[in-house]
Amino acid sequence: MKEIRKIGIITGGGDCSGLNAVINGITKAAITKYGVEIVGFTKGFSGLMNHGFRDLDLKAVSGILHEGGTILKSSNKDNLFNYQVRNNEGKLVYKDVSDEALKNLEYLGVDALIVIGGDGTLTSARDFSRKGLPVIGVPKTIDNDLPATDVTFGFNTSLETICDALDKIHTTAYSHDRVMVVEVMGRLTGWLALEGGLAGSADVIIIPEIPYDINKIVEKVNQRDAFGRNFTIIIVSEGATPIGGDVVIREKVEDSPDTVRLGGVGDVITQQLQKLIPHHEVRYTNLAYLQRGGTTSQFDRSLGLMFGVQAVELLMAGKTGLMVQLKGRKITSIPLEKVVGSGEVGETSKGGKKRVNVKGQLVQTAKAIGISFGD
Ligand code: F6P
Repeated sequence: MKEIRKIGIITGGGDCSGLNAVINGITKAAITKYGVEIVGFTKGFSGLMNHGFRDLDLKAVSGILHEGGTILKSSNKDNLFNYQVRNNEGKLVYKDVSDEALKNLEYLGVDALIVIGGDGTLTSARDFSRKGLPVIGVPKTIDNDLPATDVTFGFNTSLETICDALDKIHTTAYSHDRVMVVEVMGRLTGWLALEGGLAGSADVIIIPEIPYDINKIVEKVNQRDAFGRNFTIIIVSEGATPIGGDVVIREKVEDSPDTVRLGGVGDVITQQLQKLIPHHEVRYTNLAYLQRGGTTSQFDRSLGLMFGVQAVELLMAGKTGLMVQLKGRKITSIPLEKVVGSGEVGETSKGGKKRVNVKGQLVQTAKAIGISFGD
């Protein structure tokens, strides 16, 4: 592999807390330890096409470690292997512009990329590495649904937000004897609802991995009433489904690699419950994008820094086509070929989503302390 003198950074897909920690770790390690230059491309991969970039020096990344979002901005629409351009007749068409992007990198003297993102972004990272560009991927998502790493950064900060929200919602639930339905993100996996609900003392946790029966939720509310606890907190994953039913789709984003946006199942459950338990006021809160922002937690700052520094170390050791991962308490790496590109479901060994094990310790712990899963 050719000597690396300049590394480009890309942040793609939905933002989450910890992205700036990774950028901070990469930039500081590359400059301080190796004297390598860093350039940050803006708005995901599109920065490679429309000259969206900025040089990052130690000053540029100073003071960003704790901040949510990404100083480079992000995009979940710009797949350069299938990029929207106007043809000669002015019509919008999709075209592979990856070779042009490689030429732009060469022109800028960028020898390698560190790509921070989820499945879609890391699939492009893999495709650029197939074309011979030295690339290292860094996994991010609040959903924690990537099988190749024990945890993704962003997840822990989201859990802190969920836990804090449940603590706050408890006081209104108690004061008004209400049933409170709180919807959280997570796509087709229930990690956020499960871990957030467990730590936030939810009484009912509804996750995609365990389809729910609305009558079982009513049973739990009645049980709590009989026990003199006249309020109930229900946390619901956006991807939850009733037994034999389908997910609730909020909208479709046609030019995104993952077109479906989930949302609203908490509202559906609230309306059903209101009819079944008219003696209670049932209220719905969707935590939505609050879960993606905020000051980065200590855990995500450390994980982000370690991922960023390890990505630099791998490139400087002549490695490419890898993704950094957390296994146990150690940062290691795995070929991108093994972790991306197989969509929402499917075998986790082939890159499918990591789903909650319904027989695993977390679910069993919750059940042992009386939390209902609506099943
Ligand atoms: O994957 C992260 C995530 O926040 C999901 O939990 C959520 O379903 C989705 O992204 C929302 O995407 P968007 O920002 O495009 O609405």
